[in-house]
Amino acid sequence: MADRMNSTVQGLRGAQAELAKLREKNNQTRSEAEALATAVPAFAALFQRELNLFLASGAIMSLNDAISKYRRECKERKRLYNLLQELRGNIRVYCRVRPLSEREAIEEAEVIEEARATGGSRAAQLYASSAHNRAVGPIRFPGEDEISLIGERATKTYEFDRVFDPDCTQEDVFRDIAPLTSSVLDGYNVCVFAYGQTGSGKTHTMIGSSRDDPGVAQRALCKLFETAAEREGDYELSMKASAFEIYLEAIRDLLAPAAARQPGAPPQQKLEVHMAPGGGTFVPGLTAESVSSAHDVELMMERAQGNRATFSTNMNEHSSRSHSVLSVSCYAKNKLTGVSSMGKLHIIDLAGSERVKQSEASGERLAEAMAINKSLSALGDVIASLAAKEKHVPYRNSRLTHVLQDSLGGNSKVLMVVNVSATTSCSSETGCSLTFAQRVRAVELGSARANTASASSSSTTSTSDGTAMAPSPAAAKDSRGPERPPSSTDRPRRPSSGRPSSARPLNHPPMR
Ligand SMILES: Nc1ncnc2c1ncn2[C@@H]1O[C@H](COP(=O)(O)OP(=O)(O)O)[C@@H](O)[C@H]1O
Ligand SMILES: [Mg+2]
Repeated sequence: MADRMNSTVQGLRGAQAELAKLREKNNQTRSEAEALATAVPAFAALFQRELNLFLASGAIMSLNDAISKYRRECKERKRLYNLLQELRGNIRVYCRVRPLSEREAIEEAEVIEEARATGGSRAAQLYASSAHNRAVGPIRFPGEDEISLIGERATKTYEFDRVFDPDCTQEDVFRDIAPLTSSVLDGYNVCVFAYGQTGSGKTHTMIGSSRDDPGVAQRALCKLFETAAEREGDYELSMKASAFEIYLEAIRDLLAPAAARQPGAPPQQKLEVHMAPGGGTFVPGLTAESVSSAHDVELMMERAQGNRATFSTNMNEHSSRSHSVLSVSCYAKNKLTGVSSMGKLHIIDLAGSERVKQSEASGERLAEAMAINKSLSALGDVIASLAAKEKHVPYRNSRLTHVLQDSLGGNSKVLMVVNVSATTSCSSETGCSLTFAQRVRAVELGSARANTASASSSSTTSTSDGTAMAPSPAAAKDSRGPERPPSSTDRPRRPSSGRPSSARPLNHPPMR
């Protein structure tokens, strides 16, 4: 009994001690909670005080100031950039590398495997050591706007105004072209070419491969209509569009009435390039449709592409052997001042630039190859003689340069997009395209001027359908020589920008 009492007393003492400990802990926690409860409002008050001090110090004002300064800076940078472009001359060259197709990616992986296995060769080392940094096939991107092509004997690096790698989207490409195309509304003549071998992505870039993701042509026209809508209050604007192709040196109207393209229909009227009395080129008889919305243009382009197909049984082959041209004339008249301007936008999907071995081609294929070679060489010659400021610019050596006469001179803005495929099997053609494009880039066209005329001006030039408009100063310069000697203010020299001299011939790679 006494033992049980003892153990109960001991148990109670233990419980008492435990209770005392818990009490002490409880007190401690309470005092900590009380301390926190006073600290939080104190901290909140401190924070509020600091915030008030910050607001009172005008820091927000200086932040706003900094933002507006930054915006001003951006605007100024853009102005200087445009000025620099003007001084550099108005020919720009962009390069776009198209992504590999699935089949090509497998083939390229095999090339790398093989190169690694054989070991020792220059290509093998380069392929193995530099298969990174956006590398694709034999192409590398060593620096911004630079592209290198690994060859068996050497690696050559080219610099362009912009280089688009295979990840660049249609939107990325258009972002850098948009300001150029919009200047048509200010009266500039603008030519955008896609140059490159068949399959390099010219049509994808200019027209697009799907309706949802269009190319430069449709984006440019949407942008034109957007800008036109913004200016509607101040300007009277009207636009006319033509679509044609040049095949075997003949102009084919892609908007001609359907009856003209039915089997057995009489051949289309022979379309010839004419010079308007005040300068400017036009093609009598070529359909020119008024367009007033991007939707109008979309329908018109679909019709033109469809009509292109009716000319041939094999659309892909045919399209690589003809130049396709979309031509939009924009007439704008300032309602207040009466000053009018006329700009032309040409978007050109050139025929494939690949060299065709003469020995392998015959009949129609040979004739096609010769016609393409002739017109691309003529394009090179025209650009070269503009660069050398020669009196005689050989516009009439091909239908393509003749029809573009008023859009290739010193008065216009020219952009060439050189398209290349990044496969090892295309290396040789890629090298030719890049070399040609590099030489084009060296050309100095001088600064462009808008084709404007005051309300009282009496001289005229022509739109694509021959309607009268204000003269284009460079268009007035016939292929036989300039109307007046170009002055130094007309053609400021390119500042030394590391570009090579432009006086040498600019031959399109010859047919082998
Ligand atoms: N940047 C690109 N992105 C995705 N596919 C492309 C790109 N460029 C070209 N292609 C595809 O490659 C193929 C050949 O391009 P295409 O524009 O027809 O060449 P080209 O007009 O020079 O003969 C087409 O199937 C096209 O859709
Ligand atoms: Mg094509």
